[in-house]
Amino acid sequence: MTAQAGRREPEVTSTASRPRRVRGYAPRPPNHVIILFGATGDLARRKLLPGLFHLAAAGLMPDRYQIVGSARRSLTDEQFAEAARQATAEFGSSKPAGAAWEAFRDRLSFASAEPGRTTSLVAAIERAEREIDGSPRRLFHLAVPPAAFEPTVGMIGAAGPAAGARVIIEKPFGTDLASARALNATVHAVFDESQVFRIDHFLGKESVDNILAFRFANGLFEPAWNRDHISYVQIDVPETLSIEGRADFYDQTGAYRDMVVTHLFQVLGFVAMEPPTSLDARHLRQETAKVFDALKPIDVRHAVRGQYAGYRDEPGVAPDSQTETMAAVRAEVDNWRWAGVPFFLRSGKRLAASRQVVTIGFREPPLRMFPILSKDTLDGRRNEITIDFADPGSITVDFLAKEPGAQMRLGTAEMIFRYDDSFCAANSLEGYERLILDAMSGDQSLFTPDKSVERLWEVSEPLLENPPPVQPYAPGSWGPQPSLDSLAAPYLWYLPCAGSPAPVPRARRPS
Ligand code: BG6
Repeated sequence: MTAQAGRREPEVTSTASRPRRVRGYAPRPPNHVIILFGATGDLARRKLLPGLFHLAAAGLMPDRYQIVGSARRSLTDEQFAEAARQATAEFGSSKPAGAAWEAFRDRLSFASAEPGRTTSLVAAIERAEREIDGSPRRLFHLAVPPAAFEPTVGMIGAAGPAAGARVIIEKPFGTDLASARALNATVHAVFDESQVFRIDHFLGKESVDNILAFRFANGLFEPAWNRDHISYVQIDVPETLSIEGRADFYDQTGAYRDMVVTHLFQVLGFVAMEPPTSLDARHLRQETAKVFDALKPIDVRHAVRGQYAGYRDEPGVAPDSQTETMAAVRAEVDNWRWAGVPFFLRSGKRLAASRQVVTIGFREPPLRMFPILSKDTLDGRRNEITIDFADPGSITVDFLAKEPGAQMRLGTAEMIFRYDDSFCAANSLEGYERLILDAMSGDQSLFTPDKSVERLWEVSEPLLENPPPVQPYAPGSWGPQPSLDSLAAPYLWYLPCAGSPAPVPRARRPS
């Protein structure tokens, strides 16, 4: 390409010559034995077994691998393979058929285990290793309820197969600061921190990872990504789902621990972080850790807990349960980039829609030179970037534009990027698939380190120690009002394109 007159060809900057680790899928991970605890549970059925098969069908698994399912109850290898087939048929994006399925099925085995009864599991792991030449790595995945994390880690330690292995641990990691510290101590007695992969599957979602690309691969948005231009951030994950028969887990956990202190704060970390020096684990995790350090402790006056009507009648739920099925908080990142900008986080069950959305609201321009009709200023939220991170994901930029005609009359307009329309959706991976692959490759970038988990519990302490009473809300509604709108004041809970209630007219938002 020749340079235009008067313009210089872009120079290769010095950063390009600096060696950088680029995350990606090549080369394939080294040979592995994956030991899946909780192999008969809901997570394994809905996500992990179908996800592992999708990786295999896509040619992304190691050349040689074996999967050993484990749980307290006993299953034969054949029963486990059949359960995996049914799960994959029901929930998988690659259906279990043909040579690919047969090859995968042949790599499945099962061994029951519980603390003090590990002989058959250890034997099954050794058998699986003998199937693979050389020394495959061991990857333990603890897809078990949080109460079983410590006993399972202890069991792995006592049975001795932890050396050189890696471990994926589900969320929530602990139930408060003290329990997270205790769990970290238990884990570190068996695994070094470099072996530990605390998983949050939201960070494996294509559109959440794309927040990094959107912000840091483009010169367009980042200059405005700060308190000078942004007036609020909303991270909203309403779900129409109920607790889906998970009362044992959910009634002990609630929406804040299940979703907010985990998934929503992790997404906040990506939205709020400073540009990392590189995408490698050390730099990326350093930057999210700084965001979490800058979080103010949650002020209980800035929190709403709701419970859907009928929750206490769900099988397994205590009749006087005070567990929240919806939690909303106003979080604040107290640093130079974000001071004064509210981050509104909400998630709940049996709400009016299922969405996973980050909304970035921009300030109004300093001068209002256009006559704006009240219909265009009803919600004052005309300049928003909406990142819809539910797979397959999209990004919408809302702005005001001149309507055609002789008058300077403004109307609302939008620019939309949809993953499905723009890229080959067949290449996309579900959150768990991406993260299991990263764990096999030893890449901790998208996994949460011990201190970050502890910090998130630390900022949550005021709320956990002194939770406001749960307020009832009708199933299918948007949660308890007017509390939610008061929490978000002077803004409103509003989900673009969700059919959420039209915001109350307001002439002008405070800048
Ligand atoms: C899980 C929560 O971690 O995430 C569930 O335990 C929630 O309660 C789920 O429904 C939502 O994630 P996704 O990606 O499956 O929609």
